[in-house]
Amino acid sequence: MKILTLLGSARKRGNTAHILAWVEGELKALGHEVERVNLGSQEIKGCLGCAKCKETLDKVACIQKDDAEGILEKMIDADLTLFTSPAYFWGFTSQVKTLMDRSWSLVTGFHTPQHASLVEGKKQALLVTGGGSYDNNVEPLFTAFDRLQKFYKGIPAGELFIGGCGGDGTLPEDAEERAIAFARTLVK
Ligand SMILES: Cc1cc2nc3c(=O)[nH]c(=O)nc-3n(C[C@H](O)[C@H](O)[C@H](O)COP(=O)(O)O)c2cc1C
Repeated sequence: MKILTLLGSARKRGNTAHILAWVEGELKALGHEVERVNLGSQEIKGCLGCAKCKETLDKVACIQKDDAEGILEKMIDADLTLFTSPAYFWGFTSQVKTLMDRSWSLVTGFHTPQHASLVEGKKQALLVTGGGSYDNNVEPLFTAFDRLQKFYKGIPAGELFIGGCGGDGTLPEDAEERAIAFARTLVK
C-alpha cells in the first residue's frame, strides 16, 4: 500500500514525530511504501474561499501557488493518508487546519447529489497526541475528522489518541506498543 503521512507538529523531533516514527517503522516492516511530509516545513497559505477551484472538477485547481497543491496531489496518489497533530487548544495545529481548509479543492458539490471527490474511496486515518486525556479535551478533533472523511468520500482506516504526552518529551509507557498496534490496524 502507498501511504502518505502528514506530520502536523512544527516540532520535527517532538512527541507526535516520535510516535509517528513507530507507526511508520511498523508499516515499512509490513512491506508498505511510506512517505512523510512535515507540514511545518511547507508553505501552505490559508484558503481564500474564492471557490475558483470549483470551476475545474478533475484536478486540484487552487489559484494559490504554494506547496499545498503538491501535498493534495500526493493524497490523491496515495492509498492511505495518515494525518497527525498534537492537540492545540482543543483543536488541530494551524499547520493541519490550513491544509484541511485547502483540501476544499479536492471536493465539489458537497451536500448535493453531484457530490464528487478526487479522493473518493481512498483511506484516511488520524493520530493525535496531547498532554491531557481524551474526555473534555480532544473530542472536537475526532468529530471534525469524521466529518471531513464524509466530505472526502473517504474510507475511515483508524484513529488513535495518545494522551499524557508532556512538553518535555515524556510519553506514556505503552505509547510504542499502541503505535505499533495502530499501524497494523491501518493496513489490515
Ligand atoms: C499551544 C499548545 C496548546 C496545547 N493544547 C492542548 C490541548 O488543548 N489539549 C491537550 O491535551 N494538550 C495540549 N497541548 C499539549 C500538546 O498537545 C502535547 O504536549 C503534544 O504531545 C505535543 O506534541 P509535539 O511534541 O509533537 O508538538 C498543547 C500544547 C501547546 C504548545
